[in-house]
Amino acid sequence: MNIRSTKVVIIGAGNVGATCAYTIINEGLCDELCLIDMNKEKAVGEAMDLTHAVHFMNRNMKVSASDYSACKDADVIIITASAPMDTSNDRLTWLTPSKKVMKSIVSSVMETGFNGTFLVVSNPVDLMAYYVWKLSGLPRSQVIGSGTTLDTARLCCEVGNLFNLDSRNVSAYVMGEHGDSEMVAWSTATIGGKQLTDVMNDNRSRAGKIDLEQLRVMTTKAGWEIFNRKHNTTYGIAASTCAILKSILLNENRIYPVSVCLNGQYGLKDIFLSVPTILDRTGAKEIVEIRLNEEEEAALRHSADVVGSYYDLLQD
Ligand code: LAC
Repeated sequence: MNIRSTKVVIIGAGNVGATCAYTIINEGLCDELCLIDMNKEKAVGEAMDLTHAVHFMNRNMKVSASDYSACKDADVIIITASAPMDTSNDRLTWLTPSKKVMKSIVSSVMETGFNGTFLVVSNPVDLMAYYVWKLSGLPRSQVIGSGTTLDTARLCCEVGNLFNLDSRNVSAYVMGEHGDSEMVAWSTATIGGKQLTDVMNDNRSRAGKIDLEQLRVMTTKAGWEIFNRKHNTTYGIAASTCAILKSILLNENRIYPVSVCLNGQYGLKDIFLSVPTILDRTGAKEIVEIRLNEEEEAALRHSADVVGSYYDLLQD
């Protein structure tokens, strides 16, 4: 018999990492979960706390604090570690301090011979995912950023609220940078099979003064609305990260808008941006090229320009 167990490592046991861990044990997503943190005692404490919680969950799982040796045979490594955030409300200001942290993490991981999938959550996530890809030398399918999966959920929630509907009725993609330049593929967005633009036009009294651009801005600002109140965001990012993780570990072939290394799709190459992607146990199995209208194409290109303008800073 050859039953292989699944192992996930989380690097960074701060608020986001610990909430990801809690979501993972809640969903029973793997056999083994290891936490790594610069502050080893924090990782030990979180692992102990989580182990006690597992007693009440649906599935037994081994949770431990570890060092980098745990990465050798990991299936997925989630990176949540980053430099402390300032108050500028711009994920890009994280770049220089986070770059240093990321460099040391990736070299420690790759020394072990890791050959699974990196799931990068640390901000600025599109740039960090690119940096991890470059530093690791792994194939593009094995490096994924959590990207706009969360922003897409936020958009669906805004639209659901507007029409008093379960947000899961909304089928739409936020694409591009996980940040201010992100765009929405409105022309392909639907609610219960009806074009979202038609729903807006047919229900003006419900939509009130809200238009598509306002919905995009509300979506983009949602993270800061949370951050400025509680000084971090945790549940949304953890749940969206776990949805991505689940599609990989359970070979679900679900489509999420994650940050992936484009290879000519949408006319863009070697740049990490969120676009709908099929996720299976190989990681980013296939990028889906949805048909965008001209305005949307231009918005995605603009987002690529914004993200790409920082690549010079990531060459070493
Ligand atoms: C957010 C952080 C994760 O948008 O960027 O909640």
